[in-house]
Amino acid sequence: RTDDAEVVVFCVPSYACQRRTTLENHNTILTDALSLLAENAELSDQEGRSVAFRRAAAVMKALPGAVTGVTQLRGLPCLGEHSLRVIKDILETGASAEVESTKQSERYKALKVLTGIFGVGPKTAERWIREGIHTLQQLQDSGHTLNRAQQAGLQHYDDLNQPVAKAEADAIAEVVERAVVSVSPGAQVTLTGGFRRGKPTGHDVDFLITHPEEGGEDGLMSKVVSRLESQGFLLYQKTTRNSYLESKDGPARPASNMDRFERCFSIFKLHEDEGRGTGHPGTPTGNTAAANSGSPGDSDSRSQIHGGEQRLLVSGEDGGPEETKPAGHRPWRAVRVDLVVSPISQFAFALLGWTGSKLFERELRRWAGHEKTMSLSSHALYDNKQSRYLRATSEQEIFAHLGLEFIPPSERNA
Ligand code: CTP
Ligand code: MN
Ligand code: MN
Ligand code: MN
Repeated sequence: RTDDAEVVVFCVPSYACQRRTTLENHNTILTDALSLLAENAELSDQEGRSVAFRRAAAVMKALPGAVTGVTQLRGLPCLGEHSLRVIKDILETGASAEVESTKQSERYKALKVLTGIFGVGPKTAERWIREGIHTLQQLQDSGHTLNRAQQAGLQHYDDLNQPVAKAEADAIAEVVERAVVSVSPGAQVTLTGGFRRGKPTGHDVDFLITHPEEGGEDGLMSKVVSRLESQGFLLYQKTTRNSYLESKDGPARPASNMDRFERCFSIFKLHEDEGRGTGHPGTPTGNTAAANSGSPGDSDSRSQIHGGEQRLLVSGEDGGPEETKPAGHRPWRAVRVDLVVSPISQFAFALLGWTGSKLFERELRRWAGHEKTMSLSSHALYDNKQSRYLRATSEQEIFAHLGLEFIPPSERNA
């Protein structure tokens, strides 16, 4: 028999939303390489290229085993000529020259450093690089006026570029839940984004807030933000009001991928407390508000919970006993937090839209448009053939409307 007969040929459906993509990745070398090229294209304002590499990487992530030869890839979707060449180079020589030279290029390194500043996107970074600014020092020396977000981003640069651990996300969840419930007792907080997909770390922590009565969410964001602010939890926040109802183009035709919920991009002050003694047992946090679950004696602005091996304390104040802290050690760190408020009638769509991954979301919308003649957003699903909105109160119903098998959050890691 020929060698060919022993080759395992992989087969996957072409849309990422038709596939189950767990965090278990058997081809990290290949997906890291393709993701780097995707990132470089994205930072260079080449969206088409970026999406092509992301789709190729997502296909490799979904494979049930490690790829050892290109013959195994026959018939796989989304692998263009360019992606296949990168994969082939790595399989045959151990590396891709294009990936290695991109990684080491001054341009890529500068784009990474500059867009690593919260509030700085690829366009701004590009402009600065053209002026010869490649480092934070050069940016500071340039005398450029930074906006409020960028100033905060620069100030907390190291913290914000350090991954957020699940235990830290849980500590912040408890603070957010308390703040929300204290201003609106029936309101509910759900952890979304990468942590809902089971990721062990993230670049931020995402929350979706709603109220079981329609309209009960009105005015909620400003109250929550005021409360968190008065407690000293926010190092930075920018709240954007809901622009869904007032926009004229309607939910079926969003102006961009951006949804129009009331949202708050913030930087939280997360206290760590390695040395502090007698915490209560870990408070379960997660999808529902764990109201008033603090131990007796916790002040309202504090919650102490177990998080893996670490003990974390989120505090509104700078202070707390300093005796146990090593000199020069800051007892807190900055963490990016996104808050979104949705009316209950749109909650399922908002939940689906804010759980990600970004590619999974993009593929859901592409599937809806190209295969079902429907328009999906984080607000609604519109059937263009029937000229009507399709209601849903759960993610399961949305998948069913779309004619897709339900994929749970932990399998949306495309
Ligand atoms: N999202 C969005 N509009 C934005 C920003 C994000 O709809 N302006 C959605 C994304 O589509 C994604 C979710 O919010 O589904 C979470 O985005 P983000 O926090 O950027 O990504 P995560 O998947 O959570 O990854 P990470 O762990 O790096 O935070
Ligand atoms: Mn496996
Ligand atoms: Mn996130
Ligand atoms: Mn986010």
